[in-house]
Amino acid sequence: MKNFTSLKDVDKLEKLIQSGLSLKENPLEHISLGKGKTLGLIFFNASLRTRLSTQKAAQNLGMQTLVMNFDNDGWKLEFEDGATMNGNTQEHIKDAVQVLGQYCDIIGIRSFAGLKNLKEDYQEKMLSHFINESKVPIVSLESAIRHPLQSLADLMTINEFKENEKPKVVLSWAPHPKALPQAVANSFAEWALGAGFDLTITHPKGLELSKEFTTGATIEYDQEKALEDADFVYVKNWSAFDNYGAIIQDDNWTMTEEKMELTNNASFMHCLPIRRNVVATDEVIENEKSLVLEQANNRTYAAQAVLKTILENE
Ligand code: CP
Repeated sequence: MKNFTSLKDVDKLEKLIQSGLSLKENPLEHISLGKGKTLGLIFFNASLRTRLSTQKAAQNLGMQTLVMNFDNDGWKLEFEDGATMNGNTQEHIKDAVQVLGQYCDIIGIRSFAGLKNLKEDYQEKMLSHFINESKVPIVSLESAIRHPLQSLADLMTINEFKENEKPKVVLSWAPHPKALPQAVANSFAEWALGAGFDLTITHPKGLELSKEFTTGATIEYDQEKALEDADFVYVKNWSAFDNYGAIIQDDNWTMTEEKMELTNNASFMHCLPIRRNVVATDEVIENEKSLVLEQANNRTYAAQAVLKTILENE
């Protein structure tokens, strides 16, 4: 693995999942692997889990970390080749990425979606520049349209709790007071289908995700019907393609205990942070079948499995 930015970068998914679960059992087993190496973590938006779990993962492998909130503390970046930089932009992306590569052996980048222009977000401008300009491996800490470290942690969690080889997994849209990216939902669909799970996606009409991510899944607009026989229910808000970035509030889609009772005693999943009693009720989030803290815990070992694979390949 040179970079880790999507499922396409993973040679053997099951092996990577098992590596993460094995590291969870013995986190310091490879404490010497990253000795003398530095992981740079560059953030363009807020983060709790990704920022701290990836630092912890690096420390478990003996790596040092450098962390920078680029949106507040960095220079304003220019992306156009050949630009005459006599306006607001202060540093060209290609200079910034190459300098970062002098300080770091691996760079993690959280670029996030702008949520103003769907086409621009799907071009992954920031992540693509990092991949193209960097001489050191790039790890996505969530890009405009994917969140692969979250998805790896989610698949590790399902593997730990599944009771049959092909569980029915339902990805259900939820209301939210702010517009959110499609990244978590896209990635979860991509990885769940990659793992061979029986995936149903349910959402109001007009909130379809890209077929690039959902081909192979069942789309069911009736949420209650979708929940029947579910083994895992993953709840997440995402923005629509049409009217991209608009806020859609439909409280009928909040996940409740009554809806969870329609399932096959399903486990509840969410990547966190979660808007309580909007996305799901307190009772659902705190139910014994809720896996949200397990997912957050697995973020460390997912990141550790990815960093270990990259370090071993160097
Ligand atoms: N799930 C997740 O990525 O959380 P943070 O945004 O806090 O990193």
